Amino acid sequence: MKQFTSSDWPTLAAALRRSYQDGYFAMYSSLFGGIVTDPALMILPIDDHMVHRGDGIFEAIKTVNGCIYNLQGHLDRLDQSARALFLTLPASRAELMAIIRETVRVAGKPDCMIRVFVSRGPGSFAVNPYDCPSPQLYVVVTSLGTPFMKLHPEGGRICTSRIAAKSAGMSHIKNCNYAPNVLMKKEAVDAGVNFAAGFDEQGFLTEGAIENMGIVTADQRLLFPKLDRILAGTTMLRVMELAETLTRSGILKTVAFADISRKDILVASEFLLTGTTINVAAGVEFDGRPIGTGKPGPVYRALESLLEEDMRGNITLLTPAITSSTVMPAMQAIE
Ligand SMILES: Cc1ncc(COP(=O)(O)O)c(C=O)c1O
Repeated sequence: MKQFTSSDWPTLAAALRRSYQDGYFAMYSSLFGGIVTDPALMILPIDDHMVHRGDGIFEAIKTVNGCIYNLQGHLDRLDQSARALFLTLPASRAELMAIIRETVRVAGKPDCMIRVFVSRGPGSFAVNPYDCPSPQLYVVVTSLGTPFMKLHPEGGRICTSRIAAKSAGMSHIKNCNYAPNVLMKKEAVDAGVNFAAGFDEQGFLTEGAIENMGIVTADQRLLFPKLDRILAGTTMLRVMELAETLTRSGILKTVAFADISRKDILVASEFLLTGTTINVAAGVEFDGRPIGTGKPGPVYRALESLLEEDMRGNITLLTPAITSSTVMPAMQAIE
């Protein structure tokens, strides 16, 4: 077996490069104290407790036309996750925003995905968080995936998940231990559908692997699960705000949080999914049975266009990220 030393690093790094890393644009690491653009350098020490214990938190945020969408909403949730894990964020809100914006600027793409990780930090291979002298911050900017409905305009197919719902406390933390979420995604893939829907012990809808889920009832109520057992999705909360417009125009009667049973889903007129990567999507089939007409419905269409408009035009949730006029001429108006 070969043994390597640090002088072999350039050769090792060259051997680590893969074509699937083409969409990895930039990474900030507090351990380096700066930004790297070579994917071979986008690495973490194996004794960081985020690696071997999942002891860390994260946020997935996107930029649209050079602006970061709902950065404050994501950073508020990062704060909440940090508090729940007794993790001290290694940067103030202003410093965090500056680091994120600089990493996006270095990435140089108007539309990209930002993942912010706060780890317990390197320290030992034990479970004890007190072994780690200081938490670390990693920010990775990669290419943005195509939204689900652009790839599947016919809508999504959903199956019932058998994975136990997270407890109330754990479901509120965007923690790097995503084993249940990974298993839900595996269930969906294995069942040949797009998403798996979780249910709690009382049979009420929780959420998908990385998305929130809700319904439109036959009497025009837009309902999402109560926040007890789910991650409060930034997209779901924004969609609920935007949906208030539809109550004024009579398309919806109310927008609310409620207990949603499997039976409620089967008699619903529409099923909706929300998330940073999928935006808002329509679910058209549940456990092999059509939902409503079996096609994306009018509330989905209205919310999809309201959200699209919000992401591109409503500057209240947009934080300018890229300021170079060569990369982002449209940004001039917003700055
Ligand atoms: C478990 C879970 N629920 C819901 C969501 C949707 O949250 P957001 O709309 O903030 O992306 C996510 C996002 O990754 C998630 O991981």
